[in-house]
Amino acid sequence: DNAYLITHALAKDTLSRLRDVETEQVAFRKGLVKLGRICGYEVIDGAMGTEYVPVETPLAETTGERVKGMDDVVIINVLRAATPFVEGLLKAFPRAKQGIISAGRDETAGMNEDGEFPITIDYVKLPEIGPDDTVIVADPMLATGSTMCAVLEHILAEADDFEDLFVLSAVSAPDGLVRVGEAFPEADLLTVAIDDRLDDDGFIVPGLGDAGDRAFR
Ligand code: PRP
Repeated sequence: DNAYLITHALAKDTLSRLRDVETEQVAFRKGLVKLGRICGYEVIDGAMGTEYVPVETPLAETTGERVKGMDDVVIINVLRAATPFVEGLLKAFPRAKQGIISAGRDETAGMNEDGEFPITIDYVKLPEIGPDDTVIVADPMLATGSTMCAVLEHILAEADDFEDLFVLSAVSAPDGLVRVGEAFPEADLLTVAIDDRLDDDGFIVPGLGDAGDRAFR
């Protein structure tokens, strides 16, 4: 099993505000930015490690620590809801390279009997991904996992050698975690919450509604 919960108290606090139906557009977008930053710090703390570096203070020479691999981070923005989330991640990883994938569910087609949506991918622009890179694919919602599977297929078609591959979401449904986890065992799935279920329209319940609409409409 390759799914991990982000348990930072501020992550849970911020997600709860995002869930709240009373949280209006500006606060919602700011909440996603904040959650992205916290999740970024959690990735750093859990996965990146530090190395010792010499430091000269005003008084003496000593040994300090520096986070390893900060120059080898790639963040993939799955349009559109991930945009404010990625803005927050960039506060944690200011020197990250960025990729963009525009992927959306074909809602009119609906879910098929396997619980998947057809996915349309309109635009893909990825930076070069190398063996030292930590790749973070960000999308606040992992519902059926159809979008993420299509996105990861594209990424892995262009890059098969990297240090780590993280799928980062705020809220996930169990079905989506299972689908992505089984299809892409090389990915670690990080999420702030695993919710109860999907409804008949493939929305996460309790979830937080449609993150793209709440942030942008
Ligand atoms: C939402 C969300 C994910 C996707 C998750 O995007 O941001 O990308 O659905 O669903 P899945 O796991 O069942 O594929 P949506 O297609 O609504 O596009 P948007 O971000 O432009 O609103």
